[in-house]
Amino acid sequence: MKYGYFDDQNREYVITQPDTPLPWINYLGCQAYFGIISNTAGGYSFYRDARLRRITRYRYNNAPFDFGGRYIYLRDEVSGGFWSPSWQPTRRKLEHYSCRHGMGYTTIASHHDGIEASTRYFVPLDENLEIWQLTVTNHRPQAADLSAFSIAEFCLWDAQDDSTNFQRNFNIGEVEIENGVIYHKTEYRERRDHFAFFACSEKIAGFDTQRDVFLGPYRGWDNPAAVERGQSSNSVAHGWAPIGSHHVKLSLKPGESRQIIFLLGYQENPRDQKFDPPDSQILNKKAAKCVLAKYLVAANADAAFEKLRAYWDELLGLCQVETPDVHTNRMVNVWNAYQCMATFNMSRSASFYESGIGRGLGFRDSNQDLLGFVHMVPGRARERILDLSATQLPSGGAYHQYQPLTKRGNNDVGSGFNDDPHWLIVGVAAYLKETGDWSILDEPVPYDNAPGSETPLYEHLQRSFRYTLDRLGPHGLPLIGRADWNDCLNLNCFSDTPGQSFQTTTNKDGKVAESVFIAGLFVLAGRELAEIARHRGLTAEASGYLAEVAKMEATVRQHGWDGEWFVRAYDDFGRKVGSKENAEGKIFIETQGFCTLAGIGLEDGLAVRALESTRKMLATKHGIVLQQPAYSRYYLELGEISSYPPGYKENAGIFCHNNPWVIIGETRVGNGDGAHDYYSRINPSAREDISEVHRCEPYVYAQMIAGRDAPTHGEAKNSWLTGTAAWNYYAITQWILGIRTGYDGLLIAPVIPAAWRGFKATRKFRGVTYRIEVERAGRGNQVSLEVDGAPIQGNLVPLPPPGTKTVAVKATLR
Ligand code: GLC
Ligand code: GLC
Repeated sequence: MKYGYFDDQNREYVITQPDTPLPWINYLGCQAYFGIISNTAGGYSFYRDARLRRITRYRYNNAPFDFGGRYIYLRDEVSGGFWSPSWQPTRRKLEHYSCRHGMGYTTIASHHDGIEASTRYFVPLDENLEIWQLTVTNHRPQAADLSAFSIAEFCLWDAQDDSTNFQRNFNIGEVEIENGVIYHKTEYRERRDHFAFFACSEKIAGFDTQRDVFLGPYRGWDNPAAVERGQSSNSVAHGWAPIGSHHVKLSLKPGESRQIIFLLGYQENPRDQKFDPPDSQILNKKAAKCVLAKYLVAANADAAFEKLRAYWDELLGLCQVETPDVHTNRMVNVWNAYQCMATFNMSRSASFYESGIGRGLGFRDSNQDLLGFVHMVPGRARERILDLSATQLPSGGAYHQYQPLTKRGNNDVGSGFNDDPHWLIVGVAAYLKETGDWSILDEPVPYDNAPGSETPLYEHLQRSFRYTLDRLGPHGLPLIGRADWNDCLNLNCFSDTPGQSFQTTTNKDGKVAESVFIAGLFVLAGRELAEIARHRGLTAEASGYLAEVAKMEATVRQHGWDGEWFVRAYDDFGRKVGSKENAEGKIFIETQGFCTLAGIGLEDGLAVRALESTRKMLATKHGIVLQQPAYSRYYLELGEISSYPPGYKENAGIFCHNNPWVIIGETRVGNGDGAHDYYSRINPSAREDISEVHRCEPYVYAQMIAGRDAPTHGEAKNSWLTGTAAWNYYAITQWILGIRTGYDGLLIAPVIPAAWRGFKATRKFRGVTYRIEVERAGRGNQVSLEVDGAPIQGNLVPLPPPGTKTVAVKATLR
């Protein structure tokens, strides 16, 4: 069953009924000001950091789930009836409801009793504000007298404190109202130099800024007293809960349309210019007023919207494909790339499932996110790499997370996740291949942000690699530390106390438990580092890395191979995890995927066998589960993984992030059919028809789909912020379609399904547009290339002479 459809032409997903199984959301803003918006206008906004600079309030875990947002009420002045054009919060019946989620904007439109209302929500490029453009049209045969009420509930900035510290917070709320503009300035009197504003383009009939006056006692958002009465109270918030609400009266002739623009924005003032006059406590509104004057004008708002559209046309235009599969095209050309922008911006911090107060940006996550983002805005990828590496510790280890506003390592979770440092090598390698910008390696970057500790970025990579060599276990495999990629495999934790964090509790000295996954990652990262060293002319160093890689591969063969698949780890007792010797958790996906993608066992058939075992034991029609058999009870020595009921999350759920590792593994052994088949099983567009089972948005990946042991097999959870986005984008574009960035140019190495006759692609790479045509002449993956009409040897398209704009590539597969 579907709840909408893809409008591929307009790059929109159109939701046609408001009560989707879960809120289906979108992101507004892609630079510094961000909002999350659901298909019923639910959600919240923040500036840079969802915890420390929350602009509007949101209550998680509500019933209904999706509650609190950018709401508008319309009221019929004659009948007194009122409704919400976005359905929530009144949930009055609507005719012709549609929500169009597009690239950085959402338009929600509906009809009610002859009145059409459509609101377009977006954040203009390079601005710290959001625009709600409401158009109301009277389709009645007679005139309509209406009132419109807007509502935004302000958060008192620190979202964590806002939802806990009521004894203080009920006393500090402050606003100013000037010319109908509502300014939220809580804590501005002391150490903050920022405030929010909420403005309206029309003359207002009233306003409210005190929530409980607007709502009235014992009333909710579905039935505010002000709206029922048809008149605001001009309330001024002193403490309690500051909101912004405008009241606009509208008289519309039959067929007449009116537009009202609401602006919600964020403004910072220089410290010495906070007040106006300077010796007062009155906000200096000069800068804010300039912005308001511009965007309250419809023509300027429209122009900003067109600019946003053009921006996304350009970003998405960097890589466009035409394959025989509509789901592949749609995800690559639009939605997967779009999701990669969201994961780059948010990491795992703010969605409808990540509260924005729990986590900063993950070191491991953000590095992996670069794989799907770096081709879009390489300059921002560069900045991210430098920020991340500046939180690296002198040991080469890393803070597990950092706070985007302060760009400092976040001590709450600390460090000691022994895979973390290698992801920096993977991220930097992706950047270098995409851009050829070798200068980044010479950038001075501190450790733990300590001034004076700077070394060139290159040395950070050296220390990342060294980190593992300094921490090898009894079998010569990397010690796992608190956890590796799988945050829930906590082999040194041994926690029997309720509520303890599995990630930060350590009851063992960590000298025994080893990770075969980190060994695979070490092999991948080590090969990249060797290439990078070679490019810097450090041949001896490069050989040194390759020697360590070879040694690790041999160790994996000796201690990390179980007979038919790769072992997952060794626990604190030195026993295997993910082996036929185990009663539960015999085989894990991570090592089958990562070892094969890293190229381990390609020559001697281990890779093929590991992938066969994966297919036999882990693959389901909804995707590949994390391990089998699921853990049926809690194992003290394994930690959080065994805390989940079977089939969910890391306990044998389909943890989508690692499915593309197997997909890439399949391409490495030349199995295009297998690779694309796995790709399709978790492709959200390909699952649109079973939306009642999948339940999450059909246009973006979710972190997890319930595994075969779960009673709700096939149900997705935790949509949007997941490493699945970047890894799937990377797997489909670079490994299945095989348009692969390399240090020395673009490689063409497709491993596509046998039934495909070919495909076309346009890829912008280092300033040159490559028009690529792939044609199948035989069933294999052997490539012959013609570049601008001339045959060339091998499958690397050489970098063209400077000034070249386009290159035509024709690849024939045999
Ligand atoms: C979450 C974390 C990620 C981790 C994964 C597996 O997605 O953000 O860092 O690798 O879970 O546990
Ligand atoms: C929990 C989740 C896991 C996530 C981790 C990070 O353990 O199960 O997926 O990576 O939290 O905080």
